[in-house]
Amino acid sequence: MRAVFLSPRYPPEMRQFTRGLAEVGVEVLGVGDGAPDPELRRYLSGYLEVPSLLDEDDLIARVRRWLRGRSVDRVLANWEPLVMAAARMREQFGVPGMSVDAVRGFRDKQLMKDRVAAAGLRVPRAHRVHSIKDVWSAIEQIGYPAIIKPISGAGSADTYKVTSALELERILPHMHHVAEAICEEFIDGDEYTYDTVAIDGVPVLESVTQYLPNALQMRSNEWISPIMLSVRDLEQAHIRPGVELGRRVLTALGMGDGMTHMEWFRTPAGEVVFGEVACRPGGACVVDLMNYTNDIDLFREWARVATHRTFEGSTVRKYNVGIVFKRAQGQGRIRHIAGLTEFYQRYREHIVEDTLLRPGTPRRDWKATLLSDGYIVVRHPDWDTACRMTTDAATSIHLYAS
Ligand SMILES: Nc1ncnc2c1ncn2[C@@H]1O[C@H](COP(=O)(O)OP(=O)(O)OP(=O)(O)O)[C@@H](O)[C@H]1O
Ligand SMILES: [Mg+2]
Repeated sequence: MRAVFLSPRYPPEMRQFTRGLAEVGVEVLGVGDGAPDPELRRYLSGYLEVPSLLDEDDLIARVRRWLRGRSVDRVLANWEPLVMAAARMREQFGVPGMSVDAVRGFRDKQLMKDRVAAAGLRVPRAHRVHSIKDVWSAIEQIGYPAIIKPISGAGSADTYKVTSALELERILPHMHHVAEAICEEFIDGDEYTYDTVAIDGVPVLESVTQYLPNALQMRSNEWISPIMLSVRDLEQAHIRPGVELGRRVLTALGMGDGMTHMEWFRTPAGEVVFGEVACRPGGACVVDLMNYTNDIDLFREWARVATHRTFEGSTVRKYNVGIVFKRAQGQGRIRHIAGLTEFYQRYREHIVEDTLLRPGTPRRDWKATLLSDGYIVVRHPDWDTACRMTTDAATSIHLYAS
C-alpha cells in the first residue's frame, strides 16, 4: 500500500498521522513546503518539497510529475486547506477515495448546509454573500443577532457576531479581503463537537467534546482560559441527539473513509442545531482528547482506516478529558506561573499532560494558535469532577509575562 500524504510537517500533529501510516505498513510519500527533520524522515519513503502547498494547481502539477510511472493507492490530507487538493489529485490520478463533489460539501459552508437541510436536519438559516449589498439584504431576511464569516474559513478567523446595523457597519470594513462569505442566523446555545473515525461514512468511533465557552468567545477574548471537555458518556439525554444528528450529517454529505469533525449547538429549549463539519480530524488537540478518553492511538487507527479500511481501537470511553488553554498576562517572556504547584497538590494523579510555557519562554500569539501559552489536560471518569478540575485550572492558574 502506497499513499501520498499532504503536509506531514504541518500542523504539528501531522507528524503523528505520518507515524501512524508507517506503523500500519504504508509506504508514505510525503509532500510539504519545507524539509522534514530526521525523525519525520524515518516514517517517509519519499518526500517532495514544494514552494507552496496552497497554490493548488501548482501543487497538483508537481505531484503528478513526481509520481510519473509510480502508482499510488491513496492520496490523503488531514489539514483543512488541503482536503480539496487531495480530492482533485484522487480524481485526476484515478485513486479511490472521496470525490471532489463530496469534499466540496465539507468545505463550502452554504453547500454543506443546503445538503444537510435537504436531509431534513436543522441548520441555521443562511445566505451566501459576495458584496456589501448582499450582506445587508441577507441580514434583512435573517434578522439580528447574526453571524458573518468566510464561506470556507477556519479557526474562527474573520468571524463576527453582529447584533445591530451599527455593529454590522463597523465590522464590514474588516471583511473586505474575504471574497465569499456567509451570513447566518445566530444560534444561542451550548456548543459541542461530534468527532468520528468513519469507514464509508459509518462511524466506527464517535466522540463528543463540549466547548466552554463557545468557540467564537474563546477565540475573541484573551482573558478567557478556553476549556474543551471530552464527554465520556454519550448516552446522556442532552448528548444523544447530537450524536444522532452527526450520523445523519455524514450520510447526507457522502462521507468516505477517515476522520470527521463536526460542531453543533444545543439551545436552552433543547433543540439540536447543526454548525459545521469537516472531513478531517479536529485541530487544537481534539485527537489527543479522544485518545486520552479511550486510551487509544487514533493517529494510527486513522491510518488503518484510511488505507486498510479496518479499525482496531477500543471504543470504550473511560474518562471525561478536559483541556484548559492558558494565556499569560503581559507581553514578552513568561516570568512566573502562580497556582500551578497547588493545582498539582490537589489533582496530580488526574493530570495527563502539562505543556504550560515555563519562565523564560517567549509568549505565543494567542490569536494565531489556540494552544496559546500552553495547556493542561486532566481526566476523570466522573463528569462533575472533571468539570471542577478544569474550572479550577482556568481560574486558579495564572501565567505572567513581562
Ligand atoms: N450560526 C452561528 N450561531 C452561533 N455561533 C456561530 C454560528 N456560526 C459560527 N458561530 C461561532 O463561530 C465559531 C466559528 O465558526 P465556524 O465553526 O463556522 O468557523 P471555522 O472558522 O471553520 O471554525 P473552526 O475554528 O472550527 O475552524 C463557531 O465555533 C461558533 O462558536
Ligand atoms: Mg468551526
